Amino acid sequence: SPIEGPDLSTCFPATPVPPCTVKDSITCCIPYTPDAKITDFKLPPRESPLRIRRAAHLVDSEYVAKYAEAVKLMKELPADDPRNFMQQANVHCAYCDGAYRQIGFPDLDIQVHGSWIFFPWHRFYLYFHERILGKLINDDTFALPFWNWDAPNGMRLPSIYNSSSSLFDELRDPNHQPPVLIDLDYSKTNETDISDDQLILHNLCVMHRQMISGAKTPSLFMGGPYVAGPNGDSNAGQGTIETTPHSNVHAWTGGLAGCNEDMGNLYSTARDPVFYAHHSNVDRMWYLWKKLDRRHRDFDDSDWLDAGFLFYDENGDLVRVRVKDCLETEWLRYAYQDVEIPWQKKQR
Ligand code: C2O
Repeated sequence: SPIEGPDLSTCFPATPVPPCTVKDSITCCIPYTPDAKITDFKLPPRESPLRIRRAAHLVDSEYVAKYAEAVKLMKELPADDPRNFMQQANVHCAYCDGAYRQIGFPDLDIQVHGSWIFFPWHRFYLYFHERILGKLINDDTFALPFWNWDAPNGMRLPSIYNSSSSLFDELRDPNHQPPVLIDLDYSKTNETDISDDQLILHNLCVMHRQMISGAKTPSLFMGGPYVAGPNGDSNAGQGTIETTPHSNVHAWTGGLAGCNEDMGNLYSTARDPVFYAHHSNVDRMWYLWKKLDRRHRDFDDSDWLDAGFLFYDENGDLVRVRVKDCLETEWLRYAYQDVEIPWQKKQR
């Protein structure tokens, strides 16, 4: 049966993935009162404006000002408002570091990484985050940017996150600031010293492999099946994109110390505003993959389609979503700016 949860009535201290340890125990419980009303998610009206997510390195200053203002307002919301920036970040921690249990299985936690749950959960997570930001600046066309790391001009930390504004985060690797190019295959132990041109080519090869040659089936691309209950395996297997470049971009951006905060650890990653641009591009990969080939299809398994999660919406109301409602970005009334896809052809 499909994953159902979390059970918000019981929240446990979160534990970051070993071997990293943090001094104090981590609390990332989501605001909740037992009498809170939970409504079933409804798609936004078809006539509502389409939010266009643009490449972060291509946005204009007017957009940056609006975006920074929205994040600032989100950070200034009362600390216990579920739409507050830190609460939003905690939602990510809550769904991956053991804070909550599955509904009906009080011994089993919920993990949204490492399986076919990865893409849809993060799509919904960003969907609500984006709408909260838009509401705070009264703009129902507001859209998050995407970090276009799959194209040469996007292969560095987008500069809009690197100026003194609400978009800045001090817990980032100082050696990976612009104009340093990202290695999409990065790990702490393989710092490369090849030329920028070679690195770009290498990155495009990685993209071709993860999106096309190595991603011919839904499970290769989206990950293995994770179902509810004791037979469910939250580690059923990552899809190509979740493994690389998704995890590598996290590790590359996060700091060098301790648990690699913020971006480099699941519990802290969403405290960095660039997280949302990173995941917007991850989400864009799902959207693009389905357009690349007729055989690129979503799963039709009800254990996937009916999997359900809880989020607070832009009005602060608790909503139960199901995977089957997020399959097309148009249904959720957003789209991606059309930019060149330089990895579509095999690099040589
Ligand atoms: Cu929920 Cu990029 O991790």
